[in-house]
Amino acid sequence: MDKTDKLARYALAQKQIEALASGENDAVALMANTAALLKDSLQFFWVGFYRVVGDELVLGPFQGPVACIRIKKGRGVCGHCWGKGATVIVDDVDAFPGHIACSSLSRSEIVVPLKDRSGAVRALIDIDSTLMADFDQTDADALEHIANTLSDRIF
Ligand code: SME
Repeated sequence: MDKTDKLARYALAQKQIEALASGENDAVALMANTAALLKDSLQFFWVGFYRVVGDELVLGPFQGPVACIRIKKGRGVCGHCWGKGATVIVDDVDAFPGHIACSSLSRSEIVVPLKDRSGAVRALIDIDSTLMADFDQTDADALEHIANTLSDRIF
């Protein structure tokens, strides 16, 4: 997918998520629809949410193959994103120390935090691709916008 096409799809997804989130604040419903929308419109391999529950991440609504349920703090790309409190892009998951392989088909990954009003990370959007280096700043900007839209409604 070229950059223009990707930007157009993200712009439409952003509008649809704003419409879905308008007047709705149920976290499961909004995460579920966002995962469906992103999987469908951007054609990602796996799109889902992990929620901060105590001292670990627990799988939330997702679209794609079955995934690992619990991730300890600091473990994997998701745990790294949680600790850092900022978007993490991994071009080659095999080169990321401690990457948790939920599917052997996954080659690259982006993880974006959802923060509450105090700035604490409360959940993550995790997206996997079967292509190497499939994510860049275009994805980070668009997904951070989506993450902020959701966070404003649910946290
Ligand atoms: N690869 C992630 C685990 C979650 S799956 O990608 C769905 C990680 O290393 O944290």
